[in-house]
Amino acid sequence: MAMATTSEKRFLRALNGETLTPPPFWLMRQAGRYLPEYRATRAEAGDFLSLCYTPDFAVEVTLQPLRRYGFDAAILFSDILVIPDALGQAVRFVKGEGPQLDPLRSAADLSRLERDRVLGHLAPVFETVSRLSREIPQTTALIGFCGAPWTVATYMVEGHGSKDYAATKKWAYGDPEGFDRLIGLLVDVTTDYLIAQVDAGAEALQIFDSWAGVLPEVAFERWVTRPIGEITRRVKAARPGVPVIGFPRGAGLLYADFIDRTGVDAVSLDTTMPLEWARDTLQTRCTVQGNLDPILLVTGGQAMNDGIDRILEILGRGPFVFNLGHGIVPETPPEHVAQLADRIRSFQG
Ligand code: CP3
Repeated sequence: MAMATTSEKRFLRALNGETLTPPPFWLMRQAGRYLPEYRATRAEAGDFLSLCYTPDFAVEVTLQPLRRYGFDAAILFSDILVIPDALGQAVRFVKGEGPQLDPLRSAADLSRLERDRVLGHLAPVFETVSRLSREIPQTTALIGFCGAPWTVATYMVEGHGSKDYAATKKWAYGDPEGFDRLIGLLVDVTTDYLIAQVDAGAEALQIFDSWAGVLPEVAFERWVTRPIGEITRRVKAARPGVPVIGFPRGAGLLYADFIDRTGVDAVSLDTTMPLEWARDTLQTRCTVQGNLDPILLVTGGQAMNDGIDRILEILGRGPFVFNLGHGIVPETPPEHVAQLADRIRSFQG
């Protein structure tokens, strides 16, 4: 079977800087609990990490939203926390409480991490990517992903999700060189992890820095921009041409500097990003992706339609990928996603 060329995949064309009408679209967390077929596969798999590490299940849940909505991109089904899990800091997903890890609190705890086991532990994820690259439709692009070092570090240090990131900040501010060692280790293993995803068939990469927006400017530069720039440069040096999307959620005005210094091909805009500023300041630098409020997708109706239309009107005339400003939430009615897809597809420019 002939491989689809880049030009047949609208998502990759947009990442390459083309303006497309209507814009290509996919949704962060498009596979997940809002879909009854996901809940059925999840129940069969048992715990969440078994779902991530069993290619039969992971391939199936990646394909489920494509069958319903025909998104322009599929995103590998996995989680950002497979990296600490692979380093030997076991991750448990506790129902109703989110992820739990035995926390690392200082540079002395870094000796608990075993970087040599990472790629072997993640072999099932690469198997999932390679099967997906054969099974997705010709015009659909395959996105690989990782968590950014800062966001992954917050889970490794707090031991769970957090509201104030106080333990992570105390380590980072109190012993910046020691904290740099954790970030540097995450840069190294994340780079290898992304390169292995590209070798297995991922055609674009997204780096999720969900908690980037809680750092002051100088710390943001040191632990968000610099490590993501390092990963981006190393991945592009090893595998030239692979497009990288950064998602420094909550970065506000710092999005502009983030683009300039990391060299990403696109940024994913969070829900709070003012659209005209993004058009004038960011879309002139790179492709932008985003940024419908996921709760508008729960609300539906006129409020959702107005939100979609404003994004299309303002960002749809430059290099753009329609997406949400953060992941889909479990209470989203699947029929609202179908309405969103129809509305984007009928945009005439
Ligand atoms: O987008 C996709 O469809 C691909 C899969 C994907 C998941 N997580 C699946 C998942 C991706 C790209 C992620 C990224 C992720 N994971 C992030 C960054 C993006 C963001 O949303 O900010 C973060 C911070 C995580 C860490 C994580 N994983 C949390 C906080 C949780 C929620 C725990 C809970 O119970 O709500 C998870 C679990 C998780 N990851 C689920 C899914 C579908 C739900 C687990 C389940 O089915 O029980």
